[in-house]
Amino acid sequence: MTELTVRFEDAFGAAPDGVWQAPGRVNLIGEHTDYNEGFVLPFAIDKTAKVALRIRHDSKVRLLSTFGDQGIVEAELSGLSPEAVADGSIKGWSKYPLGVVWALRQRGVEVPGFDLLLDSDVPLGAGLSSSHAIECAVISALNDITGAGLAAEDMVLATQQAENNFVGAPTGIMDQSASLRGSKGKAVFLDCRDQSVKLVPFDAESAGLVLLVIDTKVSHSHADGGYASRRASCELGARLMGVPALRDLAVEQLDDARTVLDDITFRRVRHVVTENARVLETVKQLAAGGAGSIGRLLDASHTSMRDDFEISCPELDLAVDTARSHGAIGARMTGGGFGGSAIALTPVGLEQQVRDAVARSFLDAGFTAPDIFTVTPAAGATRLS
Ligand code: GLA
Repeated sequence: MTELTVRFEDAFGAAPDGVWQAPGRVNLIGEHTDYNEGFVLPFAIDKTAKVALRIRHDSKVRLLSTFGDQGIVEAELSGLSPEAVADGSIKGWSKYPLGVVWALRQRGVEVPGFDLLLDSDVPLGAGLSSSHAIECAVISALNDITGAGLAAEDMVLATQQAENNFVGAPTGIMDQSASLRGSKGKAVFLDCRDQSVKLVPFDAESAGLVLLVIDTKVSHSHADGGYASRRASCELGARLMGVPALRDLAVEQLDDARTVLDDITFRRVRHVVTENARVLETVKQLAAGGAGSIGRLLDASHTSMRDDFEISCPELDLAVDTARSHGAIGARMTGGGFGGSAIALTPVGLEQQVRDAVARSFLDAGFTAPDIFTVTPAAGATRLS
């Protein structure tokens, strides 16, 4: 028995039916392109949410986490609704598992009552998709245990529905696709228009590199206004340019766009259009020259997010600039922005130098000390027992 199953038994009085896990993610490149039906290149990391779950023979859901301070949260299946989130009767981390249950029931999946214990080592609010890791672990468990037989693509859409309509964060499909469809050693090259995936080898080690994550400790929420307002600008830009989604605009059409759009909308559009092109170029470069050949693309992505999309923050810029000036061959913020983490592709021999320099620069600037660690592509969601 694992520690989690022992804790489950202590809390709920019987052994769980099974244990499932799902990882967080970093995004190598392709930011705010997912809801524009474009391209992304994230990978699953070896930090995961784990759930132990046992079916009940009534319509009650009882939830407990190893990290929250809410104790056991109880809910009735029939009481799950976006209104219950809006009026605060469903709150905190329990929104994520309950949102998944709600979304499955919206799709006609008969979800029974259950007891669930959640554990996670994906840092919360660090831009590494801690909430999607929880949702993907829960949906994997419920999909298995109900025999619903949903394909990964359906689980992706169900978790998106949970985020968009239950939790209230208007996010795309990148994070859950990485968590559900990730594979060891591979990045997930996803076309967000049709959900087609190519697994692309990403091997920093053989290029003499490590991928550092710098968690700035600036916490962010995609249910806040910044993310939604960027999404609205993109939708406005697509409408004014007469295309179904920004995915359909080519870099060559940006000159036209400049004459049609106001300055802010134009810069939002330019970020998305050039970022899509950078994802395609990154995939090409990885195949041709390996991880050592994508540094300038990461840098260009960060500049575009800082100046055109305006979703960076002083801590992310300092992390990126310091990593670059102390030896990283490329660096960028990763995830939705306004805080969270940066990634820095760094020669192995300079890793310590970059870590020290970033830590020192944060101290000098009076920022909270960052957390710095390496990641490699790990497996996607799976059943453990
Ligand atoms: C968050 C969202 C994703 C995606 C990224 C930005 O992580 O959950 O859907 O939009 O931001 O690329």
